[in-house]
Amino acid sequence: MQTIKDTLAENLGGPATLLGSHQFKLDDCPDLSGKVAVVTGGSEGIGFGVTYTLLKHNIAKLFILSKSKEVVDGAKDAMAKELGQDKADRTVWMECDLSDWVRVKDVAEAIKREASRLDILVNNAGRGIMPAEFTPLGVDRHMAVNHIGHVVLTSHLLPLMKRTAEQGHTVRISNQASNVHYQAPAETRFASLEEINTDVGPNGQYGRSKLAAILYARYFDRNVTKKGHPNVLMNATHPGLVSTKQSRTSIFEAFPLGGYAMSHGIEPFKKDQFEGAVPTIYAVTTTKESGQYICAPAIPEAGSDLSQSEELADNLMELTRNVVREKTRSESADKGCPFDDLVLH
Ligand SMILES: NC(=O)c1ccc[n+]([C@@H]2O[C@H](COP(=O)([O-])OP(=O)(O)OC[C@H]3O[C@@H](n4cnc5c(N)ncnc54)[C@H](OP(=O)(O)O)[C@@H]3O)[C@@H](O)[C@H]2O)c1
Repeated sequence: MQTIKDTLAENLGGPATLLGSHQFKLDDCPDLSGKVAVVTGGSEGIGFGVTYTLLKHNIAKLFILSKSKEVVDGAKDAMAKELGQDKADRTVWMECDLSDWVRVKDVAEAIKREASRLDILVNNAGRGIMPAEFTPLGVDRHMAVNHIGHVVLTSHLLPLMKRTAEQGHTVRISNQASNVHYQAPAETRFASLEEINTDVGPNGQYGRSKLAAILYARYFDRNVTKKGHPNVLMNATHPGLVSTKQSRTSIFEAFPLGGYAMSHGIEPFKKDQFEGAVPTIYAVTTTKESGQYICAPAIPEAGSDLSQSEELADNLMELTRNVVREKTRSESADKGCPFDDLVLH
């Protein structure tokens, strides 16, 4: 019976969220005075729910990484109106397309110059359930944005996060995953670029990138948290079914007709962007664990069999390192500045 209640709590909004076995509310977020955060895709949807909550709880400085200035301007106006100009002024927007890994590295370096500590990193931005597409570097866009861009960002920010932890703070990173990771192809091995560039349909494409988000958290736990950095934690999260641009609009690109059920039919049962932010806020302010898959509101779940495979996680991260090195050579090694400094841990 509790399993059914947990499933309802994880995926649906409203009172269903009170059924879960591990409760957490946004009001349980501790005071964050003095802390610094980075949130990708922090200007709309679930990401806005996250940035709003961090500011409400007094975060000192918050970097938002996203593509659209117009959207971030709207978000800042909303924050100023509801939380006051002082809170809105604590946000710094950095234009960053996560599929452009050279730009991602530059943005990470800029953050390291501007901030003397980094307590929270929310790897949230993402391409939703949409058709397969390649980036200009010739890599599947779901993997390039949802997984690889976040690995590049995290890896370049990691020295600052380790320093913050060494000063006696707990540093927390969250990766926005999804229960759609169960729809990653059963034969996923993360063995080659060719494999991740194979079109497996909108759910498969998206699911594979979300499987990567969970595997990365578990890999990080083994290779960073448990290898000398006990206060640097990384977890993956599932927000449930949330009413955002992804679930209302983008879904039509993949399913011009069937998307109607997702965008309108089940709209009354979806969570709002604040309810959708709950597991992330728990993961980046409260949990003491690392390497978990945290479903809404704060329920640790095993995830799919694939998500628990250490071998698959190792394959994924080796492939990630190789693809980044190979694809950014002309912008780095060939100009005398190797991108080989992508130390994943
Ligand atoms: N909604 C759900 O039901 C649901 C369920 C499970 C998981 N999720 C995950 O939750 C996360 C947030 O999604 P959401 O539902 O809140 O959707 P959303 O409202 O569409 O927000 C997506 C955010 O990602 C940013 N983004 C997209 N592509 C980017 C890129 N290439 N580089 C940098 N930023 C990029 C967008 O910024 P710009 O507008 O500036 O591009 C936007 O801020 C995603 O990872 C999503 O997969 C959502």
